[in-house]
Amino acid sequence: MPEIRPVTKDNWRKLIKLQVREDQKNFVASNVHSIAESQFGYDEPVHGHWDFHSFGIYDGETAVGFLMYGFNFGHPKQQAFIVRLMVDEKFQGKGYGRFGMEKALETFRADGRIKAVGISYEPENEGARKLYASLGFVEPGEMLGDETLAVLKLG
Ligand SMILES: CC(C)(COP(=O)(O)OP(=O)(O)OC[C@H]1O[C@@H](n2cnc3c(N)ncnc32)[C@H](O)[C@@H]1OP(=O)(O)O)[C@@H](O)C(=O)NCCC(=O)NCCS
Repeated sequence: MPEIRPVTKDNWRKLIKLQVREDQKNFVASNVHSIAESQFGYDEPVHGHWDFHSFGIYDGETAVGFLMYGFNFGHPKQQAFIVRLMVDEKFQGKGYGRFGMEKALETFRADGRIKAVGISYEPENEGARKLYASLGFVEPGEMLGDETLAVLKLG
């Protein structure tokens, strides 16, 4: 059974070695970039601070992917955001990406402050779009920079 584990001083070196396929590299930042970003979160000009949390996706002792989500409980639209998701090229298509998403959503559903979850992806990232749509994410027709926004309403 896979699991997600927080990024720590003991596992970050392994996690930064995970790679997507060459043709997927513009879909997702490197894990070393994401782990750096997760130290600080993100300040939105109007709606305030997003706090980031980063995890490795594991199958037993094998690191297979990376997940990062953020919280901003005062945000009027989405109080949780899936900031990053990747599965190493060697382990794609085995359900780990879906598993990571389901674990994140399980955490969000248990927190009454979270009414909606956001995610964004490159418009040509059909694999990601299909995965998120199958979990109930809907595109409101807005862009977030050059990425397509999708939102899942909870409860
Ligand atoms: C997107 C990604 C995280 C999916 O992880 P994964 O472990 O390969 O996906 P899963 O095996 O869990 O598949 C889940 C669903 O994704 C969809 N999917 C994944 N890759 C796909 C592809 N290449 N083409 C079409 N659909 C795809 C399918 O709908 C699949 O549904 P199923 O469970 O009914 O088969 C992974 O392919 C990846 O790391 N891609 C590169 C980075 C990226 O695009 N990250 C997302 C940025 S928003």
